[in-house]
Amino acid sequence: MKRAIYPGSFDPVTFGHMDIIKRAAIMFDEVVVAVLDNKAKTSLFSVEERVKMLQKVTEDVPNVRVDSFYGLLINYAARENIHVAIRGLRAVTDFEYELQIAQTNKLLSKGSLDTVFLTTDLKYAYLSSSGVKEIAYFDGDISECVPPYVEEKVLEKYRELRMNQKNR
Ligand code: PNS
Repeated sequence: MKRAIYPGSFDPVTFGHMDIIKRAAIMFDEVVVAVLDNKAKTSLFSVEERVKMLQKVTEDVPNVRVDSFYGLLINYAARENIHVAIRGLRAVTDFEYELQIAQTNKLLSKGSLDTVFLTTDLKYAYLSSSGVKEIAYFDGDISECVPPYVEEKVLEKYRELRMNQKNR
């Protein structure tokens, strides 16, 4: 069985991520979308919220499973017996960062974890989770960037944060 892991922050999942997930799901028997539980990085959504959003937006892709992991990707991949990591490349600007992650994983895993890059569909080449958050923060329209369920959750989150700020 050919299995792959698609790791990331997914804060939140965008149409760009979904494009990669769906294409990877055609190439592999099972794709595990793994949300990094990174305490050092401030995120808009909790790991549980990100996992739930991913589960919801991939519910029509039967060979996709969503999980979260803490620590090194190579350790999680080894526990799951997965030897291929998937990453998306939007533009040449992503390359250096991605190459560094891929080479590090290959070295640390002693060759056990390789990386397959999928080039993001051109229509999503401009998309990033941080861009989505900035647009939503300033009340812009994110409906072209994320699925309706995620849009709802992002707007809800900013409404919540604004309420909390007001009540302080
Ligand atoms: O969506 P992101 O934030 O670009 O994803 C980065 C991610 C999660 C793939 C990367 O930071 C990662 O795998 N972190 C886990 C820790 C790890 O294994 N580090 C060694 C490779 S850099």
